[in-house]
Amino acid sequence: MENKSKQLLSKIATNDGHGENSPYFDGWKAYDRDPFHPSQNPNGVIQMGLAENQLSSDLIEDWVRSNPEASICTLEGVGKFKDVANFQDYHGLLEFRHAVAKFMSRGRGGKVTFDPDRVVMSGGPTGANELIVFCLANPGDAFLLPSPYYPANDRDLQWRTGAQIIPVHCNSSNGFKITREALERSYAQAQESNINVKGVLLTNPSNPLGTILDRDTLKSIVSFVTDNNIHLVIDEIYAATVFAAPEFVSVSEILQEMDDTTCNPDLIHIVYSLSKDLGMPGFRVGIVYSFNDDVVSCARKMSSFGLVSTQTQHLLAAMLSDDVFVERFLAESRSLGRRHGVFTKGLEELGIGCLKSNAGLYFWMDLRKLLEEETFEAEMVLWKVIINEVKLNVSPGSSFHCVEPGWFRVCFANMDDETVHVALKRIRAFVRKKEVGPVKRKRFMDNLNLRLSFSSLRYDESVMLSPHIMVSPHSPLVRART
Ligand SMILES: Cc1ncc(COP(=O)(O)O)c(C=O)c1O
Repeated sequence: MENKSKQLLSKIATNDGHGENSPYFDGWKAYDRDPFHPSQNPNGVIQMGLAENQLSSDLIEDWVRSNPEASICTLEGVGKFKDVANFQDYHGLLEFRHAVAKFMSRGRGGKVTFDPDRVVMSGGPTGANELIVFCLANPGDAFLLPSPYYPANDRDLQWRTGAQIIPVHCNSSNGFKITREALERSYAQAQESNINVKGVLLTNPSNPLGTILDRDTLKSIVSFVTDNNIHLVIDEIYAATVFAAPEFVSVSEILQEMDDTTCNPDLIHIVYSLSKDLGMPGFRVGIVYSFNDDVVSCARKMSSFGLVSTQTQHLLAAMLSDDVFVERFLAESRSLGRRHGVFTKGLEELGIGCLKSNAGLYFWMDLRKLLEEETFEAEMVLWKVIINEVKLNVSPGSSFHCVEPGWFRVCFANMDDETVHVALKRIRAFVRKKEVGPVKRKRFMDNLNLRLSFSSLRYDESVMLSPHIMVSPHSPLVRART
């Protein structure tokens, strides 16, 4: 931005807090410039940087077709048009809050119930995360946030609120698990630096790891915040994406299991949404669900800045009150497991490992062995090759503030089966092309602990000959380390 217009605008408008210049967003731009299409642009970039569940879209479309009265812009629904179009109370439609509270319970296996009077609306989870920070923190106050974490947390939690994130770095030695000890260390260091820590933020299930927090860890974190009288904000927007054991444990369950001495419910707040669990990010449904009455009241007042449109509320109230639909939809989340399996097994056959995970719309791929050296510069070099030559938009670990170079997040639920097949073929061709001579190739495969022989590999060989997948001889994948 020109200096002259900088002077005309606010500090927020002219600072870099949006984070648009990170590789995470660069990958999206590369996709936008050259998007893959099976027939119109078969050599384009495949979008694997978008955590979106499109696997169950058909179910939703069927429901909309069978329930035309739920949409007010239809012949069957227009009778309600005036009422819905005029309603703008920031409490929201009662039937919408009831339906959301019920869906939150169903998405957590019916083990807990939620109070519709605590459901506060916001513009998507982005808005909900910012809203809760506005309620809890002053500019300069800090939140501890385990890394790797969702890149846009930097924008959502800090940019306009003026609060700050203190990353608590986790690493692969224990599967990137957060521990009370790590939180205590970061908390003590912040206090030594005179930083006012207002709370801990967690994403459970994790984005980007696809892992969930176990009961004991959750309990230890709840007692940590209670002991220190600071807040715990848990983003549970992927709660219903858990596709394999162990079961998801919501912090709301933990509250029921702990007593007053170890758990203060006034400090606990959940961020929820239908962006991921219902695959509807475009509907911008974000929810702040706090166990603290004052926070509910304040968040509700602030929610005027980012309400969910009444038209959307009206439709969703009807959809989520349909028990048969909800059961079918949630059962479909198992297809996430199938898709996850296709991808991770396909990679495993190439000797590429992933962090073990059972939730989310992505997995955490380990390409450390493919780095030229153990640095973030080398990670960037590798990432550029993947974007520009293999034409896959996966997201580099550095954009998630991961402290170990070589990890990448791969989204798997925003594409159809054919695209998955093409993506795997490209990776296969990439790995196979990186070395020409059989001796070098053997060394490479040994390095990667490849379990299968070449002859048993089942992917289409023709892709290897594709002129569109030109792997540079300087590619870091050519020189895998031991
Ligand atoms: C953990 C987490 N929180 C919040 C968001 C923001 O969601 P939305 O873009 O629908 O506001 C995302 C999106 O990927 C996310 O992964």
